[in-house]
Amino acid sequence: AADDKFVIEIPKVELHVHIEGTLTLDLRWKLTQRNGTTLRLIPNGPELKSLDELHASMASIMPEASRMNNDEERDIFFESYFEGFQALKTKEDFYDLAMNYFEHAAAMNVRYCEPFFDPQGHTSRGVPWSEMMNGFREAQTDAETKFNVKSRWIMCFLRDLSPESAMEHYKAALPYRDIIVGIGLDSCEEDRPPSLFEDLFGLARDDGFKLTMHCDVDQKDTPEHIRQVVSVVAGGGTDRIDHGLNAADDQTLMDLILKRDMGMTICPWSYLRHTTYAELGPRIRTLYDAGIEITINSDDPAYMDDCWILHNMLLAKHLCSFSDKDVAVLARNAINVSWAEQSVKEEIL
Ligand code: HPA
Ligand code: ZN
Repeated sequence: AADDKFVIEIPKVELHVHIEGTLTLDLRWKLTQRNGTTLRLIPNGPELKSLDELHASMASIMPEASRMNNDEERDIFFESYFEGFQALKTKEDFYDLAMNYFEHAAAMNVRYCEPFFDPQGHTSRGVPWSEMMNGFREAQTDAETKFNVKSRWIMCFLRDLSPESAMEHYKAALPYRDIIVGIGLDSCEEDRPPSLFEDLFGLARDDGFKLTMHCDVDQKDTPEHIRQVVSVVAGGGTDRIDHGLNAADDQTLMDLILKRDMGMTICPWSYLRHTTYAELGPRIRTLYDAGIEITINSDDPAYMDDCWILHNMLLAKHLCSFSDKDVAVLARNAINVSWAEQSVKEEIL
C-alpha cells in the first residue's frame, strides 16, 4: 500500500534474528539435496521426499500463527527449529544460510544487523567450529561488499543445556571473537532463569563482550526473569533485553529499564504464537509510550510464515497505529541500541 512506502524504504537495523531461524524451506531443500541428508520437519517425523512435501508438512505443523498459543505448540516450534539444524553441515552451508539472510535483509534496506547463532546446536552434531565460523565470516565479508549490509555476530547459549556446556563453548569460540560482538541466551526458558548463567555472563562482560538475554513472552516466571536480566546478572544487568514484552504489565520493571537506558528487541510476529492481536498492540504501545527504546525485529522468519523485518514493522505499525514519525523513532532506536561502531551508526542515520 502507498502508505507503507515510508516503512519499506527507511534504512533499517536488525538486532534480533536467529540465523538458523532464517533457513527457508527452499534453502533447506537445496542443502539437503547437496549433502544427501534425510529431511524431516520434527524429530522422528516422516521423511520428506520433495520440496512440495516439505511445504505441505510445514503448513500442517505450524497452525496459523494466531492459533499457536499453548505450551504444546511452543514445543513444536522448538522441535522444528532444532530439526532444521540438521541441514547445516559444511562451511558452504553456513555461508549459504548467512548469505540468504543478508540478501533478504538488503532487499528490505537493512544496513546493519547483529544476527544470533546457536553453536551448541551444531557442535553437538559434530560440526567443527571452523566450518561454522568461517562460513559466517565469508558471508559477512561478501554481504558488506555485495549488498552494503554490515554485521556483527551474537553468540547465543542454549539455556536448557548446562552452564558448563555454555562455558566450554564460550572458551572454544574465543579464536573467532573478532566477529562476535555479544553474548546472548535463548531456547526453552522453563525453569532456566538467567541467574544460572551468572558466571559466564560476568566473565563475558569482563572480556569486553556486550550482553543480552531472551525473556520470552508469558512464561511461568517471566517477570522474575526480566528482573534478573535488567538488574542482577553480570553485576547489575545486561546491555539489552530480547523480547521482555511482559515488562509492559509492570511499572517497576519499566522504570528499571528506563533508568538503565536499555534497548528491547521486540518481534511482533513471534508473539502471535502465544498471545492475541488484542493484547499485543497495547503492550507494545505501552513500552513505546513509556519512552523505552524498543526496536522491531523478525526472530525466526522461516518459521513464522516468512515474515521478515519489514513485515514485523508493518505489523507493529498497524497494531499500534504508529505514524511515520513513530516508525522513524523505532528505526533510530535500533541504531542507538545497536553495538555498531560509531562510524557505522553515523552512516545509517
Ligand atoms: N525463543 C527462545 N529461543 C529461540 C527462539 C525463541 O522464540 N527462537 C530461536 N531461539
Ligand atoms: Zn529470539
